[in-house]
Amino acid sequence: MTQADTFTGKLFTFEGSEGSGKSTQIELLADELAGMGHEVVVTREPGGTELGEQIRHLLIHSTEETKITPEAELLLFAASRAQLVRELIYPSLKEGKIVLCDRYLDSTTVYQGAARSISSDPVSFINQFAVGSAVPALTFILDVSVEESVKRVKQRVSDLPDRMEQENIDFYNKVREGYLLLARSLPGRFHVIDGTRKKASIQEEILKTVLSHI
Ligand code: TMP
Repeated sequence: MTQADTFTGKLFTFEGSEGSGKSTQIELLADELAGMGHEVVVTREPGGTELGEQIRHLLIHSTEETKITPEAELLLFAASRAQLVRELIYPSLKEGKIVLCDRYLDSTTVYQGAARSISSDPVSFINQFAVGSAVPALTFILDVSVEESVKRVKQRVSDLPDRMEQENIDFYNKVREGYLLLARSLPGRFHVIDGTRKKASIQEEILKTVLSHI
């Protein structure tokens, strides 16, 4: 069953490594769509619900003493997503809203699958279980080099890097490659944009593409 069979709304998701500019572009797009009279819901992963934000805190801000195994990490991201889908995304899509989500199931495929090397069978099964029929109409990948991503994170982060930001260059190379591989394997759902282009030009391309899907 496709999203179009069940919902009148549309889900657009945004992916990319740290510092790729997703949040900025989501904000710009949400303003433009709202200005055109669309009902827009902006959310993020992990998080977006009260439970999800608590899980986010565990996943992102835990210290080294709180050991999180890759398997537990996978399930925690999925738990946050399962809650977000039932509490916010399904109802919004049923009401015909446009949902913009900062990260979604593809982050799990790439971070826990490609970068943490959990095999694709459990990752894909757990992802499908968590999202149900809330499949993105389209997913934008903002692609920046690992060097650029590290540079942007350093500029942005005023205090210590969080648990995920402490990963090494090899991890982030796998993340970037994972995204590009996903985009090549499912070209109909992914739209890759060079995240080093000018903000306004990326904004224009995203808006044009979204408008062609709604
Ligand atoms: P961010 O929301 O600031 O991008 O931080 C979320 C972090 O969590 C980021 O490092 C990517 C990571 N992440 C995963 O590893 N798996 C997931 O499924 C999701 C949604 C995020």
